Amino acid sequence: MHQTVLLKEAVEALNIELDGIYIDGTFGRGGHSSLILEKLGAQGRLLVIDKDPEAIAHAHKLFAKEPRVIICQGSFAKLEEFAKQHQVIEKVSGILLDLGVSSPQLDDAARGFSFLRDGPLDMRMDTSTGMSAATWLAEVPEPMLAQVLRDFGEERFAKRIAKAIVKARTEQSITRTLQLAEIIAKANPLKDGKHPATRSFQALRIFLNDELADLQRGLAQSLRVLKIGGRLAIIDFHSLEDQGIKHFFRRYAEGIDIPRGLPLTEAEIAKYRKLKIIGKAIRPSEEEILGNTRARSAILRIAEKIG
Ligand SMILES: C[S@@+](CC[C@H](N)C(=O)[O-])C[C@H]1O[C@@H](n2cnc3c(N)ncnc32)[C@H](O)[C@@H]1O
Repeated sequence: MHQTVLLKEAVEALNIELDGIYIDGTFGRGGHSSLILEKLGAQGRLLVIDKDPEAIAHAHKLFAKEPRVIICQGSFAKLEEFAKQHQVIEKVSGILLDLGVSSPQLDDAARGFSFLRDGPLDMRMDTSTGMSAATWLAEVPEPMLAQVLRDFGEERFAKRIAKAIVKARTEQSITRTLQLAEIIAKANPLKDGKHPATRSFQALRIFLNDELADLQRGLAQSLRVLKIGGRLAIIDFHSLEDQGIKHFFRRYAEGIDIPRGLPLTEAEIAKYRKLKIIGKAIRPSEEEILGNTRARSAILRIAEKIG
């Protein structure tokens, strides 16, 4: 079962208007979507998006009799395309992104995301496209593997782990999650209380699903999809995502792109400011973290489109 993180806080952040149009870009199992619908009136609309065919199948089941919901399979990196298709460009009152993997994805060994459950080494959120982790690991050159582990997992022992993986694959193909977890565990000397494969699995997942690039695309398109006054609420789970979101918010709230040294009037400067940051970052309460360890690293950031 998926336990929705920061449920009330994220939906409150969207400031739901009865007849507004909302987008849940990461449907998962629909925790946030269901609460948004509770607050929407009969004329309101909710577009739900997910890359994962299983999440989309769940959405069709859950909302079979819900005329206010439009279901779109694909990445939120295609936000603008979905919004155009459904004629809601610049009409959207709020967009929610709750990033990363869902508990059903982690819990189902067959998806290959977990270093604790044995399954085929897949790790794709969208299983209909792209390359599985096993296929990629069979071919990737060692320096590139080390770079992925370092850049997307912030793994200090990236080189050592990459070397061990490349050596192991010459003896036997790496096709199972626990097989890979064991190779990494043997190569990783760090004992910090976390499973030694945590950062490497995170890195492979982020890389194979193109998560950081998708996030940048989704953020950029949100500015063209939201109406003035529309809200953007994003829940992230690690520093790489958080840095990207903070930078994007600051860039459009402060107008970082304003050409230096130009004698601009206040009105001209205002044109570069597209967002207002709403409040401080919100973290889950102690109580929520006690009930759901996945919430531990969650951060909710909120902005409003102003221009
Ligand atoms: C943390 S879960 C969302 C949980 C959801 N808020 C709920 O309450 O059930 C993240 C979901 O986002 C999906 N996802 C991740 N990246 C995506 C992307 N770029 N585009 C669309 N869906 C994505 C995953 O497949 C997963 O189902």
